[in-house]
Amino acid sequence: MLASIVVASSLAAGALAQSTPLAAKRFQWDNLPYKADTDTGIRGFQIGYNRCNGTTQNQDSLCQTAVINSIDDFCLWAPPEPGKTVGDIEGPPSSPPLSSPPPLLLHADEDVGTGEMVAWCTKEGYGTRIIPEGALQGVQFIRTPHYVQVVGYIDQVKIDMQADDYGGEMDPHGADQRGNPLGGLLFSNAFGGNSSRNGTRNGTQFQQVIQWHNFMGGAQFCLKACDPSYENGWAMCEHIFDRIGCIYNAPSNWSKINGTFESCLGDDQLYPGQYIENGRTMTYTQPPESLGPITTVPYTPFTPSSSSCTPYTSASIYTAAAQLAPSSSSSASSSTMTSSASSTDSGSASATASSGSGAGSAAGPASTGAAGGQQNSQPGSGSGSGAEDLKVAGAMVAVVAGLIGVVAAL
Ligand SMILES: *[C@@H]1O[C@H](CO)[C@@H](O)[C@H](O)[C@H]1NC(C)=O
Ligand SMILES: *[C@@H]1O[C@H](CO)[C@@H](O)[C@H](O)[C@H]1NC(C)=O
Ligand SMILES: *[C@@H]1O[C@H](CO)[C@@H](O)[C@H](O)[C@H]1NC(C)=O
Ligand SMILES: *[C@@H]1O[C@H](CO)[C@@H](O)[C@H](O)[C@H]1NC(C)=O
Ligand SMILES: *[C@@H]1O[C@H](CO)[C@@H](O)[C@H](O)[C@H]1NC(C)=O
Ligand SMILES: *[C@@H]1O[C@H](CO)[C@@H](O)[C@H](O)[C@H]1NC(C)=O
Repeated sequence: MLASIVVASSLAAGALAQSTPLAAKRFQWDNLPYKADTDTGIRGFQIGYNRCNGTTQNQDSLCQTAVINSIDDFCLWAPPEPGKTVGDIEGPPSSPPLSSPPPLLLHADEDVGTGEMVAWCTKEGYGTRIIPEGALQGVQFIRTPHYVQVVGYIDQVKIDMQADDYGGEMDPHGADQRGNPLGGLLFSNAFGGNSSRNGTRNGTQFQQVIQWHNFMGGAQFCLKACDPSYENGWAMCEHIFDRIGCIYNAPSNWSKINGTFESCLGDDQLYPGQYIENGRTMTYTQPPESLGPITTVPYTPFTPSSSSCTPYTSASIYTAAAQLAPSSSSSASSSTMTSSASSTDSGSASATASSGSGAGSAAGPASTGAAGGQQNSQPGSGSGSGAEDLKVAGAMVAVVAGLIGVVAAL
């Protein structure tokens, strides 16, 4: 009891020390700070950087600025080195729903990680790592009225994940609001971008994505980026269903994707966690981890329809991977993808328990030292959007109230 109070207090203190939540900070593509996160809370420092360039374009890059533009141009978050599970380094589980505050306290007994995932991309030019050849085994990119999303299957060992890691969720929130990864930013040219010359890359307009979520693990991935101008982006890109993975957060035709590559238009999914039963819209409540692994979920997620799909071959779109020195993976990986849709899916399949405890056998390039140097930390130009601040303020009040409650109960 005492221990959990201490942890709760320090979590609350860490959260209070965070001046501006990551999701309330605004950045321009061509004017990024060295680090979006300049805080030193309970999870320590942001391990990488957001200003990425030709110098940081390599397989040891600690770039934490990702993009999602199209089927041949997106990034995923993965570990900076092999040997740890996503759960180890993702950081604390995502924070409570922004709309209905509390229970940060419920998370107080969770491991507190460091949120150190880095960007792995399909294209060069962003100063990031490249997703190696053969890693992407099937991909669907979809553009709907309110988001763009990429889902698929991945040989996750090729991006420094453990083979049996069921992973976890990355998003710009977290219990301390500093994001998973800490300071991780996502940009896209899919939403109209900025009409000024700034924010362009060779004439292409990039805009910061404010609400997004990315699940990695169990050989699957999904990354959804909600349109920054969509007022319900926080719900469509909800971050609280962090233990039920891609199948529920990004419903797709999962049994048909492996071995295929296509880019589509499509309809919006229901908000994650929502489902229709007897004509009524229901909202699932994810049980706390203290109740053990989630073995069933009481609904099959609704898969929206797609249209205007264009098929591709992986070799034709993931050309940067082919240019990587094939040294990174020596194991045989048949990189030619012909279509072989044969994985099982069953929407109600066992949802993943994200708490893998990987005893890390750190066999990779140590990340120490890389993030030091000529620090050029500008205060993250946070023009706090009122909405996010208000919701956060609500959560703070709830935390403090909760602490008072605990103390009073003693
Ligand atoms: C390239 O990015 C690194 C990491 O952010 C930074 O330290 C360096 O100053 C940048 N180089 C240039 C030329 O901008
Ligand atoms: C930008 O344009 C220049 C000149 O046309 C070209 O060399 C470079 O490859 C382009 N960069 C990207 C990332 O497309
Ligand atoms: C567009 O860029 C200008 C100049 O960098 C900036 O002031 C403005 O806020 C940007 N607009 C959006 C929607 O990002
Ligand atoms: C573009 O950004 C630079 C600094 O990064 C600034 O000096 C300039 O005024 C900006 N231009 C526009 C049109 O916003
Ligand atoms: C899923 O499959 C159904 C049936 O073939 C199809 O109508 C729908 O468009 C597909 N949706 C997506 C997102 O691929
Ligand atoms: C996806 O397909 C590849 C072969 O292309 C196979 O090795 C892999 O096991 C499949 N993944 C799943 C989850 O079925």
